[in-house]
Amino acid sequence: DPALIEAGERVFKKCAACHQVGEGAKHRTGPTLNGMIDRTAGTVDGFKYSPSMIEAGAGDMIWDDATLHAYLEKPRDVVPKTKMSFAGLKKAEDRDAVIAYLATFGE
Ligand code: HEM
Repeated sequence: DPALIEAGERVFKKCAACHQVGEGAKHRTGPTLNGMIDRTAGTVDGFKYSPSMIEAGAGDMIWDDATLHAYLEKPRDVVPKTKMSFAGLKKAEDRDAVIAYLATFGE
């Protein structure tokens, strides 16, 4: 849905302080978010994750629609000591939109 993706691009401005996507994306405060959908948590090469995120991935946590919704709403409810200091997206529609936007970026 192009309108949802466009809305997600606007929401992503809140993420862009720490994350890059697209060609030439680099790790910043947060890891690059290309190819995030259906990926195991904490597994992008070259980024130093929190032990908590590594543990989530070791426990087979996958970034799918449900886990992304939960993490983006309240990061610490899902990954207790995550170093992503982000208040979270309260509105489900904003989370839906940003997830749709992320899904447009493959590996
Ligand atoms: C991790 C998405 C905002 C900093 C992550 C991960 C996702 C994500 C999916 C997990 C990456 C992985 O497992 O490889 C988002 C989205 C945001 C957002 C969609 C906006 C809605 C932010 C902001 C910051 C930030 C504003 C900085 C203040 C981080 C950091 C990590 C991370 C440091 C690694 C966490 C850890 O190792 O515990 N983010 N993020 N993020 N993000 Fe964000």
